Amino acid sequence: MNRIINPKDNRVVMFAIDHPYFQGPTTGLRNMSKTIKTLLPYCDCVMTTRGAVRSNIALEDVGLKPVMLRATGGNSVLNEDLSDEKLTVTIKEAIRMDAAGIAISVFIGSANQQQTIMNLTEMINQAEEYGIPVLAVTAVGKKMARDLRYLALASRICQDAGARIIKTYYCEEFSRLVDAVSPTAVVVAGGKHTSAPDSLQMVYNSIQAGAVGVDFGRNIFQDDNPIGMIKAIRSIVHENHTVKEALDIYNACLPNASKLD
Ligand code: 5RP
Repeated sequence: MNRIINPKDNRVVMFAIDHPYFQGPTTGLRNMSKTIKTLLPYCDCVMTTRGAVRSNIALEDVGLKPVMLRATGGNSVLNEDLSDEKLTVTIKEAIRMDAAGIAISVFIGSANQQQTIMNLTEMINQAEEYGIPVLAVTAVGKKMARDLRYLALASRICQDAGARIIKTYYCEEFSRLVDAVSPTAVVVAGGKHTSAPDSLQMVYNSIQAGAVGVDFGRNIFQDDNPIGMIKAIRSIVHENHTVKEALDIYNACLPNASKLD
């Protein structure tokens, strides 16, 4: 856990770039090697797939940051229902790749609810034998509202299954969700790309509500100023900056900003 969440401040900036496992070459991750090379130095941990680790992390950068290895899949955006996932990586493979943690999605309330909870418990049973923490991703079915009732229910199920970290979406009264799963660590997903002020406000609100950090993807790699964005996020997560102070950091990086492919 100390490789993932900084034990000095109990916070983490996790960079999520696992999206191609079901979305293919999405904007910002078309040139995965470039995105990794550009942003790896600024995150604490990178959430990605084994294919991305093998193909897109430059040899000199392997081991630079701990990897949260995605280990579920089996679907694509071409399907209406994304919940039909199975385990895709063995524990042996995760150990061989020196994964700091393993990420498993659950789809609570979906047609495949039971299967995805079993994916989570099966991987926890194996990973705990080797001291590897499992992060549960509370993915939301298309018909599910991302409100406190649903997200707290999904998160609490993940905690009870034995997840060490829960990744969920931000919602109103988020501190109640954090309380509902305390002391399990909660990280917040970014969701669709939005404006820098809105995105940074969500980071700030999440930290204020008790999240240990964020696991953001599109709001970093699809932003016009990706380095500015991740630096601004870091300042809120690790230095307790306000949104205004974080925006100053973001704006200072704007003159040298360049979009990712
Ligand atoms: C998909 C995931 C993604 O990593 C997650 O959605 C985070 O990325 P973003 O901030 O772009 O939402 O786990 O199941």
